[in-house]
This record gives sequence, C-alpha cells and structure tokens, in this order.
Amino acid sequence: MVWRMLAAYAARVDADDPLSALEVGERPDPAAPDGWATVSVRAASLNHHDIWALRGVALSAEQTPMVLGGDAAGVDEDGNEVVVHSVIGDPDAGGGDETYDPRRSLLSEKYDGTFAETLVVPRRNLLPKPKELSFEEAACLPTAWLTAYKMLFSRSGTRPGDTVLVQGAGGGVATAAIALARAAGLRVWATSRSEDKRKAALELGAHEVFEAGARLPGKVDAVIDSVGEATLDHSIRSARPGGRVVLCGATSGGTAELVLARVYFTQVDVLGSTMGNRRELQGLIELLVATGVRPAIDSTFPLSSARDAFAKMIDGSMFGKVVLST
Ligand SMILES: NC(=O)c1ccc[n+]([C@@H]2O[C@H](COP(=O)([O-])OP(=O)(O)OC[C@H]3O[C@@H](n4cnc5c(N)ncnc54)[C@H](OP(=O)(O)O)[C@@H]3O)[C@@H](O)[C@H]2O)c1
Repeated sequence: MVWRMLAAYAARVDADDPLSALEVGERPDPAAPDGWATVSVRAASLNHHDIWALRGVALSAEQTPMVLGGDAAGVDEDGNEVVVHSVIGDPDAGGGDETYDPRRSLLSEKYDGTFAETLVVPRRNLLPKPKELSFEEAACLPTAWLTAYKMLFSRSGTRPGDTVLVQGAGGGVATAAIALARAAGLRVWATSRSEDKRKAALELGAHEVFEAGARLPGKVDAVIDSVGEATLDHSIRSARPGGRVVLCGATSGGTAELVLARVYFTQVDVLGSTMGNRRELQGLIELLVATGVRPAIDSTFPLSSARDAFAKMIDGSMFGKVVLST
C-alpha cells in the first residue's frame, strides 16, 4: 500500500502565472534509499527559488510533478531534531566543498523538496538543531541565511569595522545579510524601494538606509546584491576601489549592462556566490546561538495554505521569511 502525504508541488511550470502551476495536495510518501534519512518536517521556509521553479527557470516541465522547497527543520527517524542542508552534492567532486561539485543540485531540483509532511535526504545533509532555535527559525537558515553568511564571511572580504551595502532590504537573503553583518561588527547600509521596509531594516540592525539607487554618503567595502538587473550598476558604483560586489541572485531580472570601465578602473571585484557548504551551515547555526540573532519571519502559514504563502512571496510585500508549518 502507498501512503500519501500532504505536499505543495509544481504540477507544471508557467513563466507568466507561477501560482497556477502550484498544487497543494497528496503525493506518495517517499522511501529513503540506502544512506538517506527520513525527516518528519515541522517547518519549511519559502525562497525565491521556489518561484523560479514554478516559472520554469529552476525546474523544467519534464521534471514535474516536483515537491517544492529547499529549507526545512524537523525530526529524523531516531527522534533527533534536525536542520536540513539543501545542497545535494559530493564535497570530493568540488575540491572539498559540495557547492563546487559540478553535479550538485538543491532540494526540489532533482529530488523532491521540503514542502511536505515527510522528506528524504542524504544522511550527511542533516545537522543537529540546537534547542535555542525554534523549528520555524531553523527552517529559515539553509538557503537565504546560509547564502548571506557565505556572501559576507567567505566572499566579501570584509572585516569588522568595514562598511557593507545590502540591496533590496526586504528579501530573505537581504534581511539575513543585514542582521548577520550587524552582529559581525560591520557598518551596515541598506537600500529598499519601500519606506516601510527601510524603517524595518533600521530596526533589524542597519545603521543607515537609502532609497533604491540613491547616492550614498561614501563608498563601501562590499555590496551584497541579490536583486540583480535593477541594482548591479548601483552596486558597482557604490564599491570603493578594490571593493567587492557579491552577487547571488537576480530577482529583478538576470541580464544587466556593465560599464566595463567602472570595473577595471576602480578594480572592483564582481563575485558570484551560491548557497554554502555543510561546514558553513554549522558555522551559521553556531553564530545564531552565540549572538542571539534570529531570522526575521514575516509570516507563518500551515502547509495546507501554501498557496497564500506563495502569493505573498510573488507580490514581494513581505519583510523577511515566509514560513510553512506542518
Ligand atoms: N545563488 C544562491 O545560492 C541563492 C540563494 C538564495 C537566493 N538566491 C536568489 O537571490 C534572490 C533573492 O532571493 P530571496 O529569497 O531573498 O528573494 P525575496 O525574498 O523574494 O527578495 C525579494 C527582494 O528583492 C528586492 N527586489 C525585487 N525586485 C526588485 C527591483 N525591481 N528593484 C529593486 N529591488 C527589487 C525587493 O527588495 P525591496 O522591496 O526591499 O526593494 C524584495 O524584498 C533571488 O533571485 C534568488 O533566486 C540565490
């Protein structure tokens, strides 16, 4: 007999109307292959990646139906509370870092994701959830927060006392970057198109906030940019000579014009960054426990109301993470 579980999944893809490609309903309970673990999901969080999947950018029509979701915290079959690392890859194939494995994937790309009552993942992808973090908080970490952690601490080259600019303050990656940068002793500047979000960014830890594209009072040591097309030029103009612009996404569009002289005359480094490895996720968890910093959670919906959660993410009105609880 095949047991069924509740899940939110891409039944198809639709570039223009991503919500129409989402179904919330029953899927077969997954079976764990050798070396994999079964997790009873307690909370999962949405990322823009889930919208890219429904739009057919992070997922092809042939791969549907696919359970969506990269982030989760739950309980494994032995009763341990766990955080799920979303990068499925072989560290040996990536020079010691699974994010550089050319064949790596994220949960919900090749293997069913986390928006379900039950999830199977390679056992190495489970990390202990500390008791200091709730399931909802822990479920925010594996994508947006891990990406911000790696951008800041492995890629940006910043040190305590440096100034960092975070573009698009309201996003999952951006809110994480603001909170983490502040906790790490950086001076934090943030931009947002919305006045309300600029105020919220100040409460979160930004020292100063600006309208998107505004002239800044000075140059910054590094820029954390997950917005893409709409902000890249501003990011490069905002970096000091020899500073770094770290890119992880393209919410506003993926093709941008580059004024080359702005890069070579000022010797700005433009770097890509994706997710983080298991060791970095462990470091992030420890940083949260040590500092008391916690993810900004915009709202929590039951899994059965995943459609409302997706609608919120698509219209971009949230500040921080949108969470599903099971
Ligand atoms: N490479 C990786 O490993 C990785 C990991 C995580 C995320 N990402 C990517 O990073 C991006 C952000 O992800 P997320 O989950 O943080 O997304 P999100 O929560 O949906 O972030 C949306 C934010 O982007 C800003 N934004 C959107 N359109 C904009 C525009 N036209 N002009 C200026 N700002 C705009 C908005 O900021 P304001 O409203 O405040 O202006 C909004 O709050 C996505 O493209 C995602 O795919 C990549």
